[in-house]
Amino acid sequence: MNSIVLFQSSLIPLLLITSCLLSINLQSSLCAAETVEFANCSQPIICEGVNSSISYPFWGANRADYCGKSGFQVTCQDTDPMIRMGSMDFRILNMSASGAATPTVTVAREDYWNNICPLNYVATNINFSLLTYASGVQNVSFFYGCSSLVTTQFPVNSQACNSTVTTSYVTQTQAAKIPVDPVESRTCTNKVLVPVSGTASQALDSNTTDIKTAIDGGFELDVLNDDTGHCNNCVASGGVCGQNITTNAPFMCFCENSSSTNTTCTGNSITNPNSSSGINPSTLSLIFIYIYLSYKKY
Ligand SMILES: *[C@@H]1O[C@H](CO)[C@@H](O)[C@H](O)[C@H]1NC(C)=O
Ligand SMILES: *[C@@H]1O[C@H](CO)[C@@H](O)[C@H](O)[C@H]1NC(C)=O
Ligand SMILES: *[C@@H]1O[C@H](CO)[C@@H](O)[C@H](O)[C@H]1NC(C)=O
Ligand SMILES: *[C@@H]1O[C@H](CO)[C@@H](O)[C@H](O)[C@H]1NC(C)=O
Ligand SMILES: *[C@@H]1O[C@H](CO)[C@@H](O)[C@H](O)[C@H]1NC(C)=O
Ligand SMILES: *[C@@H]1O[C@H](CO)[C@@H](O)[C@H](O)[C@H]1NC(C)=O
Ligand SMILES: *[C@@H]1O[C@H](CO)[C@@H](O)[C@H](O)[C@H]1NC(C)=O
Ligand SMILES: *[C@@H]1O[C@H](CO)[C@@H](O)[C@H](O)[C@H]1NC(C)=O
Ligand SMILES: *[C@@H]1O[C@H](CO)[C@@H](O)[C@H](O)[C@H]1NC(C)=O
Ligand SMILES: *[C@@H]1O[C@H](CO)[C@@H](O)[C@H](O)[C@H]1NC(C)=O
Ligand SMILES: *[C@@H]1O[C@H](CO)[C@@H](O)[C@H](O)[C@H]1NC(C)=O
Repeated sequence: MNSIVLFQSSLIPLLLITSCLLSINLQSSLCAAETVEFANCSQPIICEGVNSSISYPFWGANRADYCGKSGFQVTCQDTDPMIRMGSMDFRILNMSASGAATPTVTVAREDYWNNICPLNYVATNINFSLLTYASGVQNVSFFYGCSSLVTTQFPVNSQACNSTVTTSYVTQTQAAKIPVDPVESRTCTNKVLVPVSGTASQALDSNTTDIKTAIDGGFELDVLNDDTGHCNNCVASGGVCGQNITTNAPFMCFCENSSSTNTTCTGNSITNPNSSSGINPSTLSLIFIYIYLSYKKY
């Protein structure tokens, strides 16, 4: 009984102080404060209070520039996150959960959002140094100003844009069956290829969805980022990803309870028992208790 009282009165404060001092050396928990960078970059893109699933390498709006990479700037249009490539705006509908070897975003062309009759007929503009089409993505061909677009293999869907313009559209598998390009043969004046997801394209082929739903569902783009692997390791260690703007923007792992590094967060013994530092404050405390009790015995 006596030894327990003594243990509580003298050893606990000693252990706490020791753990705290050691944890500074080990860049560990208990004493370190959350950094400004961790707090800022742990938020997803939030537009008008609506949380998105979009984070690193995207930045902008509430996420500081050091939370992402330069080309991946997002702006908010009302409650929707947008990315601009060239002069084309895309609505970002979703981002895959972190941890994927290749993250993907689902985007939709802003000029075709809820509207298959845009003011200008322009090609889809993807910056292939940032993003690329994910597998399965298929193009829907929209034709405008057609004199007559008749195929023998399948009926072509058409919809009036207004009193003068009608659009006809075909899926990629249907387009492959048209022998001569209608714009080249001057049957139509304009053609625009708009990507849709593979499932949406199949649903159009089987007539189980409508064109608006297919287009507004967007299409997937793979995120091209050399630091995806580094970021996944960082997140697994409890950190959030970003870059150091001041030093030519190399990868940074911002940590909650330890100093930020360019690899992973260390010493987060509470949530990550497998952390590489091997020894942690709780282990040390057990060792101290063991030594103390052994000493008391003799
Ligand atoms: C939105 O994100 C913020 C910051 O990350 C978080 O505090 C909040 O709980 C989230 N809200 C919802 C509804 O998920
Ligand atoms: C994150 O940083 C950006 C840019 O500095 C700032 O506008 C935003 O308010 C910050 N957000 C938080 C939650 O600190
Ligand atoms: C594509 O993105 C890269 C990286 O941000 C940028 O340097 C380049 O200028 C962009 N290309 C175009 C055509 O916008
Ligand atoms: C967004 O992506 C996540 C992860 O891929 C998925 O689980 C979720 O269903 C998607 N949300 C929407 C609205 O598509
Ligand atoms: C009809 O719509 C097209 C765009 O699809 C537009 O260029 C044209 O000016 C419109 N015409 C009228 C009369 O509204
Ligand atoms: C869709 O069209 C674009 C050009 O606008 C092209 O780069 C892309 O490869 C096409 N996708 C498929 C699946 O053929
Ligand atoms: C698709 O379905 C709609 C409504 O069910 C029908 O009116 C239309 O004729 C169908 N189109 C084709 C090409 O089968
Ligand atoms: C940081 O420490 C706090 C308080 O001990 C804990 O709740 C949180 O999970 C720790 N975060 C990480 C990433 O280890
Ligand atoms: C970026 O690097 C500089 C120089 O090494 C350093 O002083 C600064 O703290 C770093 N920024 C972050 C956010 O770690
Ligand atoms: C981290 O920094 C060290 C030393 O500056 C460098 O050797 C290493 O390649 C960097 N690692 C990453 C993932 O950037
Ligand atoms: C720790 O490592 C073991 C063996 O490598 C693994 O089975 C376990 O899931 C890991 N635990 C955590 C929390 O990472």
